[in-house]
Amino acid sequence: MPGYQHHLFVCTNERDEGSSCGRRGSFEILKALKATIRGRGLDHEAGIMATKSGCLGLCSVGPNLVVYPQGLWRSSLTHADAIGLLKELAKPMSDVRLSDITGLVLAGGQGRRIHGEDKGLKFWRGQPLIDHALHRLAPRVRTLLISANRNLALYAKRGYPVLPDEPATDPSDTAHCSADNTDGLNAKNSQGPLAGIYQGLIKAQTPWLMVVPCDVPLFPADLIDRFWWAAQESFTDSGAGMVQARSFFVEGQYAFCLLSKGCLAPLRHFLGTGQRRIEDFHHQVGAIALKGFTDSDFRNLNTPTDFDADCSA
Ligand code: FES
Repeated sequence: MPGYQHHLFVCTNERDEGSSCGRRGSFEILKALKATIRGRGLDHEAGIMATKSGCLGLCSVGPNLVVYPQGLWRSSLTHADAIGLLKELAKPMSDVRLSDITGLVLAGGQGRRIHGEDKGLKFWRGQPLIDHALHRLAPRVRTLLISANRNLALYAKRGYPVLPDEPATDPSDTAHCSADNTDGLNAKNSQGPLAGIYQGLIKAQTPWLMVVPCDVPLFPADLIDRFWWAAQESFTDSGAGMVQARSFFVEGQYAFCLLSKGCLAPLRHFLGTGQRRIEDFHHQVGAIALKGFTDSDFRNLNTPTDFDADCSA
């Protein structure tokens, strides 16, 4: 739409039976959006427009909204969410862009609860877990990295660098797919998620690293956008930018996080003191928790039963 930078489509589809956005208050939300846009001059000032749309295909989690051309999605939309989104869209843009983000998938665990299997390569709904995560992240980041400690050649077939855990010694370390790491798990090298994140921060060529574990294949599709907005806000508020240590995590889901490259030095120090708990590191660098998610947004696959249940669902 010429002249508009943010076009909000609110689903107002209404059905007599079953779930539909129109029956969950989307008309009122659209009305409030339009009134706020008009009342605050956001159409002229910020290039924002809101219109109704037909069914967006996510009826059970409505009301739904999508913003074009950014492709931002919001589900289970409330009046407050919608107005909050307007405020975000109306902000002056900082230098943080999605192309400034590298995605890292953590697949280096020992799989203790699945009898030592390599969880990232375990099939779920027709493909290995690692591929679910890569496909979900790929459209939203500049490039991807994989943290793994065995079956490195199999992971490397995905076409992205594979980073085994290494001792945290020097920030100029070059992480690489070591020929010494063969198909077996090198238990000594598997040092927990923070060790994988450390290698990711070394290897990333972008100012930001977005981290997801491989065993939560249905994490919210708009998660990276929410992190992005949080980073934008942080940048705008502090003026400090990404050279400082900045981290953001999903409340209660510490492995889902966005870290600035500036976290490398404090993380190296943290690991050097023998600490391994990811939540402790986040707190140490004053991380910001993203709220508003439910437990079901991050249901993970831990046990053989979890895999069996979902495959038969
Ligand atoms: S009714 Fe709104 S997404 Fe289907």
